[in-house]
Amino acid sequence: MPEAYERHLVPVLFRPFATDLAARAAALRPRKVLELAAGTGALTSALLTAAPTASVVASDLNEAMVAAGSAREPRADWQQADAQELPFEDGGFDLVVCQFGVMFFPDRPAAYAEVRRVLTPQGRFLFNSWGPLSTHGFGAAFQDALEQSMPGRAPAFLEDVPHGYTDPALVASDLEAAGLALDTADEVTLDAVAASAASISTGFLTGTPVSAALESRRDARTIRASVTRRMTDRLGSGPVTAAMTATVYTAHRPD
Ligand SMILES: C[S@@+](CC[C@H](N)C(=O)[O-])C[C@H]1O[C@@H](n2cnc3c(N)ncnc32)[C@H](O)[C@@H]1O
Repeated sequence: MPEAYERHLVPVLFRPFATDLAARAAALRPRKVLELAAGTGALTSALLTAAPTASVVASDLNEAMVAAGSAREPRADWQQADAQELPFEDGGFDLVVCQFGVMFFPDRPAAYAEVRRVLTPQGRFLFNSWGPLSTHGFGAAFQDALEQSMPGRAPAFLEDVPHGYTDPALVASDLEAAGLALDTADEVTLDAVAASAASISTGFLTGTPVSAALESRRDARTIRASVTRRMTDRLGSGPVTAAMTATVYTAHRPD
């Protein structure tokens, strides 16, 4: 999965937001940065370019992601870590960053409490979360194609997880429960540009947990072909562009 994720999804969906988040991080002039849920390192690389004097510890729950990320971006110090139970000492980082990871944490207040613990008193927490699936052109087209290809049985992963934490009021209350205060919540819309509808379809089908949901099915091959055909019919052949919206949050320790 890390290879498919890195090849098909990162350049189209994740790198544009990594550039945005890295510029915001660099403006804070951090010295010691902890990245959570770093995946294959899209934000890690953007950060090291935008803030070249900062030291960056990049972490992720998934060992395969850590292996892929550390091979791709060796300038960071990579470590396997669950965001809800961080293996780092108190107050060791002046910035904690996380790109499109918080939606995956089963207990977000617990993860945010860990962020608070490892931040210096003046430190900042900077992260983003996707908007509703309807605000993501490629994600919405993929989910529609999946539902048409396997009516009533389509995995709801995109809606439930990456696009399931979209309410800034809930984010603020989860932060508050962990002893953090929300500073800003900026809605950002960027363009996703893919070489073809087929490449973005392959990315969702092979680089996300949808892949595991289809794997055990005898008709997986037919479903995959149907999804790709439907996405191409809807988006057109050749290079394709769609808008995608996320909210970028900053928080601090109020004490
Ligand atoms: C959509 S990917 C984002 C990866 C990367 N930040 C990027 O922008 O490409 C979500 C990542 O969250 C990680 N993740 C899921 N649960 C986690 C947890 N409890 N603690 C740390 N990382 C977690 C996954 O392994 C995955 O790499």
